[in-house]
Amino acid sequence: MKFRLLVTCFALVASAFASKSQPVIGLSLDTLKEERWQRDRDTFIAAAKALGTTVIVQSANSDDTRQVRDVESLISRKVDVLVIVPHNGAAMTRAVRSANEAKIPVIAYDRLILNAPIDYYLTFDNVKVGEVQANYVVPRLPRDRTARIVRIYGAPTDNNAKLFKQGQDNILTPLIKAGKVEVVHEDWALDWKPENAKKIMNAAITKAGRNIDAVVVSNDGTAGGAIQALLEEGLAGKVIVTGQDADLAACQRILRGTQAMTVYKPLKNLATLAARVAVDLAKGNKPPTTATLNNGNKDVPSIFENVISVDRENLNTTVIADGFHKAESLK
Ligand code: BGC
Repeated sequence: MKFRLLVTCFALVASAFASKSQPVIGLSLDTLKEERWQRDRDTFIAAAKALGTTVIVQSANSDDTRQVRDVESLISRKVDVLVIVPHNGAAMTRAVRSANEAKIPVIAYDRLILNAPIDYYLTFDNVKVGEVQANYVVPRLPRDRTARIVRIYGAPTDNNAKLFKQGQDNILTPLIKAGKVEVVHEDWALDWKPENAKKIMNAAITKAGRNIDAVVVSNDGTAGGAIQALLEEGLAGKVIVTGQDADLAACQRILRGTQAMTVYKPLKNLATLAARVAVDLAKGNKPPTTATLNNGNKDVPSIFENVISVDRENLNTTVIADGFHKAESLK
């Protein structure tokens, strides 16, 4: 009996030790539908593997109930750390509390989880993304009359979508107030779906007519939807359209002239950083950060990676030079 107890204790110590030296990371993604998240996943797994860890990946297909279940299943599989890209920043609170009870640290990746005791938030400067988009558009608008723009925001459930809008507002609001810019139509694209963005663009044309100078769109997927509507009206290439993510299709559109710009976010930097922080946390260390952000529950230690404005002029020296896309694949 005593011997059996001793063996059990040894096994417990051994498994805890194995777990710390070769941690297992649970990665819960909102979706894998957009190109960027596939790249985030692949880079994260490669970086984590190089650090001697394994990653269990779950993807929730934009479904909150499913994502909460995903996280709970990762907790019951006893992962050492959780990395979460929430579909809905407010809906993951409960899952984070379960992780806390199980003493599993949580990193919010790219998107913030609200009102929950998370350990780290690793992301890009999302307000800057919106500023970069609006700053691209403004100097290209007509000055001899009030410019007419459409604004297509992202998913209202994604905290980032609000931050992109906030960044755009920082630049556009003074011009709107001064009567230099008029927003002829605006709406939020549910779940960031291109087809929803297309509907918004169709509604904008029906309501405001074809006389539109720019469409400030928050990401490349939804820019694709808006551009489809513009194509059908013979307006593509005549209207400035913004985006974000440097998706392959968006970079092709930039070269073709139907999309003006995108915001390049070096995903490799973020995914590699996240893998390093996850492993450190799993080993009981407290990796340093450069900022904090209050998520309604606490000041969350955070890191904000930088973003880059990309158009036809600098596509070669940014996205291509960085190896994000090959020049041949853009033809
Ligand atoms: C990300 C963007 C992405 C969007 C849709 C946002 O939270 O920051 O890069 O395009 O979600 O997935």
